[in-house]
Amino acid sequence: MYTSENQMYVAHCERGPIYINPKMLNRHGLVAGATGTGKTVTLQVLAETFSQAGIPCFMADMKGDLSGISQTGSMSSFIAKRCPEFGIEDPKFEGCPTRFFDVFGKQGHTMRTTVSAMGPQLLARMLELNDVQSGILNIVFRIADDNDLLLIDIKDLRMMLDFVSKHASEYTTTYGNVSAASIGAIQRAILTLEDQGADKFFGEPAFNVADLLAVENGRGVMNVLAADELMMRPKLYSTFLFWLLTELYTTMPEVGDLEKPKLVFFFDEAHTLFADTPKALTDKIEQVVRLIRSKGIGVYFVTQSPTDIPDSILGQLGNRVQHALRAYTPRDQKAVRVAAETFRANPAFDTAEAITELATGEALVSFLDEKGAPSVVERAKILFPLSSIGAITEGQRIDINKSAPQNILNYDGFFDRESAYEVLTEQYEQAAKEAEAIAKREEKEQAKLEKAKAKEQAAKTKKASGIKRTIFGTMIAAAATSFARSLATNAAKSITGTTTRKSSSSKKSTSSSKSTAAKKTTTAKKKTSAAGTAVKKAAKSAANTAARRVTTEILKGLFK
Ligand SMILES: Nc1ncnc2c1ncn2[C@@H]1O[C@H](COP(=O)(O)OP(=O)(O)OP(=O)(O)O)[C@@H](O)[C@H]1O
Ligand SMILES: [Mg+2]
Repeated sequence: MYTSENQMYVAHCERGPIYINPKMLNRHGLVAGATGTGKTVTLQVLAETFSQAGIPCFMADMKGDLSGISQTGSMSSFIAKRCPEFGIEDPKFEGCPTRFFDVFGKQGHTMRTTVSAMGPQLLARMLELNDVQSGILNIVFRIADDNDLLLIDIKDLRMMLDFVSKHASEYTTTYGNVSAASIGAIQRAILTLEDQGADKFFGEPAFNVADLLAVENGRGVMNVLAADELMMRPKLYSTFLFWLLTELYTTMPEVGDLEKPKLVFFFDEAHTLFADTPKALTDKIEQVVRLIRSKGIGVYFVTQSPTDIPDSILGQLGNRVQHALRAYTPRDQKAVRVAAETFRANPAFDTAEAITELATGEALVSFLDEKGAPSVVERAKILFPLSSIGAITEGQRIDINKSAPQNILNYDGFFDRESAYEVLTEQYEQAAKEAEAIAKREEKEQAKLEKAKAKEQAAKTKKASGIKRTIFGTMIAAAATSFARSLATNAAKSITGTTTRKSSSSKKSTSSSKSTAAKKTTTAKKKTSAAGTAVKKAAKSAANTAARRVTTEILKGLFK
């Protein structure tokens, strides 16, 4: 409760009201306690008091019960009983200006970022990668950067991994060895992340952390991240929140110590941030927490036990509210001891003993004084909130979401501009087209070549068959000619043979008169010879004609 004297009244002890100093809010804080002891209500009381003082806050809502901060609270018998103890006569119940966000975009405006803004280190944690795989993810980011390839969403990252895997041998000398097995493991981890709906984490419009710094009518706006679904994946949840914090740290200007901080960041279920966290990341968290205070930002961790938080960070948390802790086991007892030791002892009571005795809504409280020194621990009752305790209705949530200013409503949209995925897809498509064109060209040339070969072959075959035909034809023709000739010769012989036989018989019959006969014979011979030559000529010509005809007929029949 922000009093009329501009004091932040948050708890009450025997000594009277306990105020938290606005100047010291950037010295961070811790709200711890076992389950059901009042941590969420304490967070609500602190946050609404800051809001009333004009300080915006960011908080994750684990069970939906923080959403009540947006609604006006009401009197209950519990509150009525406590009012006189707190010296409050007539509490002015009121809600805070509130904006709901949701990384899945269901219960509030979408809070998302880009893969490159998340960076390889946090992404490796989200993906739960081992050292080697983290190193490779680092290389992939560098290659993307060196090639001006934007990594915005998960498909950009996937495509980039694929690209690096395909060109691994080219990058070995410049960036180091990139094994296909590690790329495969990262791809599988991304699949798991996508199954968890984390692909919605990445994209545009990316959340601008400056939008968390809103003040409306003098009241700091409460930025409530619906984290019930997100909390099911603690690594995802804590890494995302730490990214948000880092983003604030890197984008906000240095301001030193202010009268009051610009923003208070509540980190609920803070143990998730440090569970299985590599030392390098713990060191980074420690550094961010240490340095962010000069940017005017206070960070309040909310967790069950102070032992959940590394000492280097615990030592930086100046404002403490410790709710009850159970001390059943030796481990519990150790946690109680550690919690007690972090307080400046109050001689009026035993700190460790008090921690185990505290009732719901009661706590050990120690805030930093003007000089930044922790006050002596007090056993106190935390004030009741003026806003409503518990979850709001779906209708109330919808109304609040609708009435958000335009810069917040813009996050409900989505756009997908040209980035690694689009650029590489185009490159692949271009390469595929070129390869297709080359293949087609080669195919064409091959076809041409084959055609030419076939033609050549055909010509050879034709020639060969031509030769064959000629030889064969000649042979046939010769055979036919010889056959025809023999026919003709025989025919001629049969004609001339008769004449010869006649002259020979006349030779025999005229042998008595030699000279007459000789003369007759010579004349006859001459006659016979002349007739024979004529007959032979005619026979030869007839034989040749017949031979030609027969040859032609045979060839015709053969080559029809
Ligand atoms: N300061 C308070 N004033 C009024 N009621 C309170 C206060 N603190 C706690 N309560 C009551 O106790 C209940 C449990 O408190 P709360 O939800 O804050 O516990 P928690 O520590 O956050 O539990 P969990 O670890 O389960 O989240 C509240 O719903 C509320 O009714
Ligand atoms: Mg709680």
